[in-house]
Amino acid sequence: MNKYSIPLALIILTLLFSCSSNTGETGSSADQNTEVRINKLIAQMTLQEKLGQMSQFDPMQFGSDENAKQAIKEGKVGSMLNIIGAKRVNELQKTAIDESRLGIPIIIGRDVIHGYRTITPIPLGMAASWNPALSSKAMAMAAEEAASEGIHWTFAPMIDVSRDPRWGRIAESCGEDTHLASAMAKAMVLGFQGEDLSDPKTIAACAKHYVGYGAAEGGRDYNTTYIPENLLRNDYLPPFKAAVDAGVATFMSGFNDLNGVPASGNEFTLKTVLREEWGFDGMVVSDWASIAEMIAHGYAADSKEAGFKALRAGVDMEMVSDCYVANVQILLDEGKIDMSIIDKYVANILRVKFRLGLFDHPYTDETLAEKTILSEEHKQIAKEAASESFVLLQNKNNVLPLSKEINSVAVIGPLADAPHDQMGTWVFDGKKENTVTPLTALTNMLGAKKINFAKGLETSRTKTSEGFADAIKAAKKSDAVLLFFGEESILSGEAHSLADLNLRGAQTQLLEAVAKTGKPIVLVIMAGRQLTIEKELDKVDAVLYAWAPGTMGGPALAEMIFGETVPSGKLPVTFPKTVGQVPLYYAHKNTGRPADYNSWTSIDDIPVEAGQTSLGNTSHYLDAGFEPLFPFGFGLSYTTFEYSDLELSSNTMGTDGSIDVSVNLKNAGDRAGIEVVQLYIRDRVGSLTRPVKQLKGFKKVSLTPGETRKISITLNAKDLEFYNGKDYIIEAGDFDIWVGGSSAKGLHDEFSVN
Ligand code: GLC
Repeated sequence: MNKYSIPLALIILTLLFSCSSNTGETGSSADQNTEVRINKLIAQMTLQEKLGQMSQFDPMQFGSDENAKQAIKEGKVGSMLNIIGAKRVNELQKTAIDESRLGIPIIIGRDVIHGYRTITPIPLGMAASWNPALSSKAMAMAAEEAASEGIHWTFAPMIDVSRDPRWGRIAESCGEDTHLASAMAKAMVLGFQGEDLSDPKTIAACAKHYVGYGAAEGGRDYNTTYIPENLLRNDYLPPFKAAVDAGVATFMSGFNDLNGVPASGNEFTLKTVLREEWGFDGMVVSDWASIAEMIAHGYAADSKEAGFKALRAGVDMEMVSDCYVANVQILLDEGKIDMSIIDKYVANILRVKFRLGLFDHPYTDETLAEKTILSEEHKQIAKEAASESFVLLQNKNNVLPLSKEINSVAVIGPLADAPHDQMGTWVFDGKKENTVTPLTALTNMLGAKKINFAKGLETSRTKTSEGFADAIKAAKKSDAVLLFFGEESILSGEAHSLADLNLRGAQTQLLEAVAKTGKPIVLVIMAGRQLTIEKELDKVDAVLYAWAPGTMGGPALAEMIFGETVPSGKLPVTFPKTVGQVPLYYAHKNTGRPADYNSWTSIDDIPVEAGQTSLGNTSHYLDAGFEPLFPFGFGLSYTTFEYSDLELSSNTMGTDGSIDVSVNLKNAGDRAGIEVVQLYIRDRVGSLTRPVKQLKGFKKVSLTPGETRKISITLNAKDLEFYNGKDYIIEAGDFDIWVGGSSAKGLHDEFSVN
């Protein structure tokens, strides 16, 4: 009988009297047994051991694994992050199991954001696939690789709704839309966690950064966020609720000051919403030192107050700072907190460890990694994900796809052969030697004789033109030019905000120089965000937005450029013409003076001494108008799609009803194609103003040339529910509905809710 087995009598007694204060749930017998085991453990734990469970350390805080083992022995470590390697983790785990007083296993966390060693597109690119099932498959692959190296827990998915491309972390997000982000949140949680969290191929997911971090003022990372409750509940919270509904094991509280209360000390979001309204019974970890940072925020005078406010709000585990360890005894002595709070948080942490199976199977099979990591199957998944992430923004004269019979092609640009940057931001374990770049893939596909490579610029920021001559020479002797421009991975991600979204350095000048050769140009952009590329559009024939496509981005691009695959991506974010338009997103409010072409003229056409009110008093920019460069949901294919026969099963529905919406979709071209059929609604009048459009459903379909298929999406009244400042309601009234291939264009009908 090991230290975890429990005398039958004790189980019966505890079941009779157990009031698992953490969940209050009856749950299954397994859940009840877990609660019994949790309560038994807590009853034995010293305060130091409890605080150990509530503390997560980075190895640099110990200086060596020997020092870490000593702390583990003393029960001071419940979790570590940034430790990898099955053997290394098993050694630390063995210390916890065999040498600490109670043998509680440690849980190892890691940022496995979009792949572990086999890197898939950045989450913004994955969102562009509009394929939750594929995202799930990609995350499952990442989980299997990470788990084989001893990782139990990823700090993903990042599901902050992001409407500002100046914010570098938009790269990690699922874009601007609540519905799409919610669908991807569910898919990623299920991908990481699978059906059984104790399966050694799965890892615990973490819904982050709870909540509102993506609304950083000015797009400047870590900046203040002001999100009124109705906007918070209608736009920013739903993806986190989707994660809870998908069974996410953990949450991470964010850095941001949310309406004057930092997210890591925010009782409203962490307790009222997450625990009381949603019934979440998993574990909340702070972001890196985000508890201690409440001092810098000016929300806590010192470490003790920061620890107190985080405990009061409900952060179970403190990542790397020591406000809990240093102050809980004092707070208890002062009567500021009660031990029952500490026990509740420790129970949340132990519950995740039990659900992961760490008590019963604490060790990692050390033979798995070599069979799992970078397997052919995994590389195929990565290539599929990359391919579906690409968005074709322009294709003049159907210049794409190119023919493999082409005599030669010029491959130019700082990102044509950039194995590190192609992986994108938030990659800790991917190795550039495993990346297949476009240059390599194109050479493999066409043969070296057909490739004329000239980098043209050392990096995206190079301002000099010494590389132009070679690039122009390569272009002149080629039948077509492939330009690989954009931004290196370091230019997006955490703390990497940009005030200027134009192509940097001399990229535009290089493009202009190459354009003078008169050759067909395909511009491929790799970036962690939408860039302002309006002035480049008329100088190139085709534009393929590749985000940061990961390990297999090169083969995926080569196959698409030469027609082996077809573009199917759709924009998960709105592309502005200029950064001055930001924030710019499709689901905006109408205002009392919405702009349209009747009420706006170009700044260049404004007559001298124009009358004060002659330019139309509507909501627009004199120098940038009121429309984006490319709208949310936009993406072309190698064929054309025709929508017809929009039909509603009814034009009315009750507040508990639904309407079946169908449309005929035809592939009107001579190539196979994949389309994302999108359903948008507009609530014309509400007790609060409502967005001019909202995505409420989508389906990704593949059609052969000439094929017509009826596509059906059900719209439930529940989908129309919104928070009006007092309650979640479904209001009677008239609605518009559109079905089409982007947020800007679709067949229209109307219905009413009564
Ligand atoms: C970082 C990030 C968070 C990440 C954590 C651990 O600062 O904000 O997303 O998971 O620290 O690396």
